[in-house]
Amino acid sequence: MSLSFDVHPHPSPASAEERAVVLAAPGFGQHFTDHMAVATWTVEGGWSDAKVVPYGVEQFAPASAVFHYAQEVFEGLKAYRHADDSVWLFRPEANAQRMIDSAERLALPPLPVEDFIASIEAVVKADAAWVPTGGGEDSLYIRPFTIAHEDFLGVRAAHTARYYCIASPSGPYFSSGVEPVDFWVSRRFTRAAAGGTGSAKCGGNYAASLAGQEEAYAHGCPQVLFLDAAEFRYVEEFGGMNCFFVTGDGQLHTPALSGSILPGVTRRSILELARDKGLEPVEERIEVDDMLARIRSGEIVEAFACGTAAVVASVRAFKDGDEEYVVGDGTSGPHSMEIRKTLLDIQYGRIEDTHGWMHKVC
Ligand code: COI
Repeated sequence: MSLSFDVHPHPSPASAEERAVVLAAPGFGQHFTDHMAVATWTVEGGWSDAKVVPYGVEQFAPASAVFHYAQEVFEGLKAYRHADDSVWLFRPEANAQRMIDSAERLALPPLPVEDFIASIEAVVKADAAWVPTGGGEDSLYIRPFTIAHEDFLGVRAAHTARYYCIASPSGPYFSSGVEPVDFWVSRRFTRAAAGGTGSAKCGGNYAASLAGQEEAYAHGCPQVLFLDAAEFRYVEEFGGMNCFFVTGDGQLHTPALSGSILPGVTRRSILELARDKGLEPVEERIEVDDMLARIRSGEIVEAFACGTAAVVASVRAFKDGDEEYVVGDGTSGPHSMEIRKTLLDIQYGRIEDTHGWMHKVC
């Protein structure tokens, strides 16, 4: 039976003035709406106690399993306000299915697709006033997550879990906007290995990416490129984003899903859009040295990162040790910008959604 996320309204939600201050300059992931969805899972009873409650501090015992063994999965998607004031999600069933796949990999209870979507709809409806307006790139970033909740230090799948869905009014992920950025090729750290959790969206993968990210900062790069863990030979993923390369002869290359690469919803959407844009999508293993040589020879003319948060972010150059490989002329390329614009136009309802990707909430 499906869960029903009944709303217990916040007794003192943010005032219209307080909300306006936040929405005027939301940043990314810094502010949270008045409500959140919660549900509890037990090994005996399954999912229950679903509700929407005031957003606030939760109490967890220090023994709570999530703190010790990182048994956690999450999702990220956005709610977009259209010009007629309606509010829409982008492919929420894809996030729902990925969260099920991630949960299975982390031995957490999967939340059924309809319950995942119902929880998001309940939060977005309760906090519709927090969905930013205007023609910019602001949206309501939605973060569903499930954690192991049992107070137990033995290493096994927890017998109790909690699901939450919180929401954060957000502007562009990168404060630099669409300015292309530099990516450090990490030959020291990897993010995920074959057979590991790389294709799951779990906090541990992001924790594992942070040392590489710090290494990138130390070399003056805001972002990092991770290679495969077995040979440090193949391009896998940027820190938290999938990667694409455009060749001068109109091919759009991305690493094939290897089991250690996150199957991004934006990645999949771009592959599905490619042919409309006159590009031939190619999913294959990409050797990093070959990729860098093809940038240098001018064969690869554009490179970009993609994800829900950043949408599409162009690569200015890769830095590999002392070498710098500037992609094309170092500016955001026309294909990347066109793909970015099309995705945003679909998400904000400015062009027809011919793929049936949008899901109306209210
Ligand atoms: C995304 O863009 O899909 C992400 O997962 C980024 C998020 C972890 C901030």
